[in-house]
Amino acid sequence: MSITISNIKNKSLLLDNIGILVTANAISVKTIKDTSILIENGQIVSIGKGISDNIINCEGKMVTSGFIDSHTHPVFYNNRDSEYAMRLAGSTYEEIAKNGGGIISSVEGVRKKSEEQLIEKVSERMDQFIACGTTTIEAKSGYGLDTKSELKSLKVIEKVNSSHEIDMVPTFMGAHAFPKEFEEKRAEYLDLICNEMIPAVASQGIAIFNDVFCENGYFSVDESRLILETGKKYGLKARLHADEFSNSGAAVLASEIDAFSADHLMAVSEEGISKLAESEVVATLLPGTTFFLGKKRYAPARKLLDIGITVALATDFNPGSSHIKSMPFIMTLACMYMGMTVEEAYQSATYNGAKALGIENDVGSIEIGKKADLIIWKLDSLMDIPYYVSNHPIGKVIKNGNIIFEA
Ligand code: NIG
Ligand code: FE
Repeated sequence: MSITISNIKNKSLLLDNIGILVTANAISVKTIKDTSILIENGQIVSIGKGISDNIINCEGKMVTSGFIDSHTHPVFYNNRDSEYAMRLAGSTYEEIAKNGGGIISSVEGVRKKSEEQLIEKVSERMDQFIACGTTTIEAKSGYGLDTKSELKSLKVIEKVNSSHEIDMVPTFMGAHAFPKEFEEKRAEYLDLICNEMIPAVASQGIAIFNDVFCENGYFSVDESRLILETGKKYGLKARLHADEFSNSGAAVLASEIDAFSADHLMAVSEEGISKLAESEVVATLLPGTTFFLGKKRYAPARKLLDIGITVALATDFNPGSSHIKSMPFIMTLACMYMGMTVEEAYQSATYNGAKALGIENDVGSIEIGKKADLIIWKLDSLMDIPYYVSNHPIGKVIKNGNIIFEA
């Protein structure tokens, strides 16, 4: 496999001989047979007609939108395979975290390593996301947990975003955990987040979102509310890790503060579900985490969908609880363990992911005027995406009308 960047920038490109085009919007998934897509200046300008000197013959295969991975933690240095080994030997994520593992064990690496060293790691990871068909990714800080290292993490995201083909949406997550030096001084860490980190992040214009790990043992509902409301005052949009391991009322909080997204929801309560249903909050489900932690209780996707909540799917890529970069594999898990149909899984992995990031007018579907972020598959049907499970037969990934990956 190799990444090739084509020379067709700002020219037109015709994807011809598409056997089946699949696209989702807020309401449904639509398929068009035997069609073509004309791209100009990186945008889709027509579907089903058009001519160009640059033609890609799709050989009668399927074309979909690129995936939108709306929840990842890619800025870390060391991997945590030793924790994986501990889980295989019977320990739980929660036990490992209590004994010095978990989020805190990634902090030293981020604090000690230079911006350049982190950039190299994150860029490599982005190459691998692209090879799985992801064209837009949300990326959180959250392993620095001091002002300097959080800003460094966001700088890394900014620099990779500008040098790499993938589009990255930056999220500040100083409230990922209480760092060791503040374990006994929670109020002081909250003060640091609200009065130093958030103002610094906002004044550098280096993040769009503000995220909090609202969970027993991490940030309480009241602490999360304070951090997210403070962020909003500084122009940072709210999203949160909600009811991942236990119901702490975080989904209710998400609805009360009009968060863009409430993520995880493995332990969401009935009350949380009905509050989400009354709100515009997207429920972002992360079945890769449930799978990778060896847990049995997946988020109640069916209930959320049946009550009318917008559901997005994402990888939650991170060194501890989900060492997974593949959105196709996340679709497999969603279909097998959360009762989602393949159409629902596709819609959640594309359009709804964009909605969770507030960018659904630019990306997430194949529509005239949107960015030409597309996957040309070596497959014939949507069902084949989850069916292939472990290898992803992708022919080409197109980003802004340029070929950025070819297999
Ligand atoms: O989304 N839940 C909080 N954060 C991550 C775990 C990160 C880690 O273990 O390093 C998550 O699962
Ligand atoms: Fe996460």
